[in-house]
Amino acid sequence: ALAEIGLIGLGTMGGNLALNIAENGFQIAVFNRTAAKTEQFIAKAGDLSSKLVPSTKLEDFVASIKSPRAIILMVPAGDAVDAQIEALRPLLDAGDLIIDAGNANYHDTNRRAQEAAECGPRFMGIGVSGGEEGARFGPSIMGGGAKDAWDQVGHILESISAKHDDEPCAAFLGEAGAGHLVKTVHNGIEYADMQMIAEVYGVMRDGFGMSAGEIGDVFEKWNDGILQSYLIEISGKVAKTADPETGKPMLDIILDKAGQKGTGRWTAIEALMLGTPASAIEAAVAVRNMSARYEERQKGEAAFGPAPSKLDRNVLAVEALEAALIAGKIVCYAQGFGLILEAARQYDWDMPLPVIAKIWRNGCIIRSSMLNDMAEALEGDATRNLMLAPLFSEKLKETETHLRQVVAHAALHGLPVPALSAALSYFDIMRTERSTANMLQGQRDFFGAHGFERTDKDGSGFHGPWAMG
Ligand code: 6PG
Repeated sequence: ALAEIGLIGLGTMGGNLALNIAENGFQIAVFNRTAAKTEQFIAKAGDLSSKLVPSTKLEDFVASIKSPRAIILMVPAGDAVDAQIEALRPLLDAGDLIIDAGNANYHDTNRRAQEAAECGPRFMGIGVSGGEEGARFGPSIMGGGAKDAWDQVGHILESISAKHDDEPCAAFLGEAGAGHLVKTVHNGIEYADMQMIAEVYGVMRDGFGMSAGEIGDVFEKWNDGILQSYLIEISGKVAKTADPETGKPMLDIILDKAGQKGTGRWTAIEALMLGTPASAIEAAVAVRNMSARYEERQKGEAAFGPAPSKLDRNVLAVEALEAALIAGKIVCYAQGFGLILEAARQYDWDMPLPVIAKIWRNGCIIRSSMLNDMAEALEGDATRNLMLAPLFSEKLKETETHLRQVVAHAALHGLPVPALSAALSYFDIMRTERSTANMLQGQRDFFGAHGFERTDKDGSGFHGPWAMG
């Protein structure tokens, strides 16, 4: 019998996704550029191999899928996707469907969707989150592209996705690059979430002088509370794991130079392009860039000496860090959802925010119990800033002072908390009706006659009585 769907690219993510599809009962055709990889993959698939249809030639692979064909690409984002589409195009019918499941830049997905509309076959870009394990046992899937294409394969994607109370963590979110944009923002939030956890870790390590194990215990405890999330859970595990070689905590031997593949950076770029504030995410990206400059930081410490770091735990308690993290997290999600909302407006995409919050509740890297409350809050009103939803405004009122204390004490002791301080500044600006941008407008009008609006009159294009020279 012909396969129901095909998949190209049997790297770890692609291979796991194929096994997940097979395990859910769908016959799946598989192909990899290097045939040896396909052989190894089948050899290791065990019982599931009966559901896998391998081919060594692209023509045979295409011929082994039932029409209209649906083919998932799990190849490295960028040129490899375009090359694969080019290779497939002459072999496919206009009604067939190519699904890019990689971490594509959504502008590329927009372009590919346009090219597909002009010369076929149909095209979808789906964001897949959850790492290797998610791909194998249930990821969160953010669908974008042609709605009729989703209708064709949605049942397969829903069945392989993670579930939250039996609800699939997979949904169609909008046309063209909508799914990949949402995945990008997911990763931007992931960066900020991770960074804020790293910042409170820093306060505990360098401020309080706590050991990795003690810090791990704190994260473990927080994971039973409102901060319950995959990222807090794994941070606790990372902190409590020892290096088998030296017996030292893993954290004490991991070099502090963070890598990045680009999706967090794209979120920051997109926020700037769309003119929407995502300062906590931007800060998290900037910190990764700074962390990579390891040698420069070494010279910095030699030049300026270490920061004064001891913090009195009677002044700042561990509980304050938990509260600060709660406040920071709310702000960071408010910024992320605000960014999606703005993209939806500018591209005229559907992108239902409550649905996005729902499909992030399980399977993906940022899954957390708070997302359940966020889904509910966004269902109430998706266009309002998440900070203003009653549940979250209450939480912010409870935690605001702690965020302020953590940022202030950290600053006084030379402990960097850039994402938390960005979150605090955002909060302070967004809760202030009269900002200081009147000064900016005055300056702009002074040097460039750019004009301003007045608080006491309607209309625009007013100018000040500035003296020239
Ligand atoms: C996910 C992850 C996944 C990947 C990131 C890591 O949702 O499953 O976000 O996409 O782990 O690309 O990103 P960096 O390498 O940029 O940290």
